[in-house]
Amino acid sequence: MVKIGLAPMAGYTDRAFRTVCSKWGADFVFSEMVSTKGFLMGSLKTVDLLPFPEEGNVAVQIFGNETEELSKAAEILSERYSWIDLNAGCPVKKVVRKGAGGGLLRDLAKFREIVRAVRKSVKCKFSVKTRLGWNKNDVVEIYRILVEEGVDEVFIHARTVVQGFSGKANWKSLSVLDKKIPTFVSGDIFTPENAKEALEESGCQGILVARGAIGRPWIFKQIRDFLQHGTYSEPSLKDILATLNEHIDLLIKEKGERGAAKEIRKFLAGYTKGLEGARRFRDEAMKIEDICNLKQAIYKFFVRKAEKISF
Ligand SMILES: Cc1cc2nc3c(=O)[nH]c(=O)nc-3n(C[C@H](O)[C@H](O)[C@H](O)COP(=O)(O)O)c2cc1C
Repeated sequence: MVKIGLAPMAGYTDRAFRTVCSKWGADFVFSEMVSTKGFLMGSLKTVDLLPFPEEGNVAVQIFGNETEELSKAAEILSERYSWIDLNAGCPVKKVVRKGAGGGLLRDLAKFREIVRAVRKSVKCKFSVKTRLGWNKNDVVEIYRILVEEGVDEVFIHARTVVQGFSGKANWKSLSVLDKKIPTFVSGDIFTPENAKEALEESGCQGILVARGAIGRPWIFKQIRDFLQHGTYSEPSLKDILATLNEHIDLLIKEKGERGAAKEIRKFLAGYTKGLEGARRFRDEAMKIEDICNLKQAIYKFFVRKAEKISF
């Protein structure tokens, strides 16, 4: 069966969002990326990004640029978790400049060395999330390295690092890979139709959804329904409100009331997308700092809609 996962997103895929996505059918989820340097130095901010070990099917994604640091951190983490993923695709300047994330793809010989060392120290499942290449399509070579070095699974955002998020993800470019290990396609999967097309064009065994899940965690169920039955439905207002409320409550538990008010703002555009008056509501919601007032404003917005349409 096709596996559908929540892609790693720094600043988004915290415990609360992961939980909400899992409830809506994500087969697995990723943590935010964790700096191996920060982890080894015991930075509280970094340690805070780590999942609870009992969370379930979650990949702990690490990033770094030094072989020793990466393997040391991976070794420690793999004693606690069942799945470690190496970030070899992040295009953010601050990360790439130091040779981490997508920067690892600039020198494929060094990349191989790092993958080999980390593989050796990881006792549990080890995957790599990568891109097509640094500034050109090197995916065949990258894939060969990953298979030869014994990586268990690979996730490929079908753009180069230099491309960032520009242009369109080239799903078809993954069709040439022999898929000797489970291979997942990522990039521009915003609808169930996109998911089906990405799977067909890439020939991959699974997909990752990133931006398409922000404030729309039901996309996992929609994709599954579409792949299995050829149809899917939109969630009811009641379901959206219940999900949004649960998301806020989980954020309060994880980050406190102030943190929750700040974090949930990033998701409001998604949760209210396509609903009449959503823009005005969001503009108002952005100014509300107290979480109880924000919850009340959300409730009023949805109930007003429900009075027009049956709940
Ligand atoms: C806000 C944001 C943060 C991201 N952070 C990470 C990250 O920490 N690690 C990673 O491997 N990819 C990261 N990505 C890339 C996504 O996992 C995904 O591969 C990319 O967004 C393409 O998928 P999409 O078109 O479904 O968004 C991030 C993307 C976004 C939009």
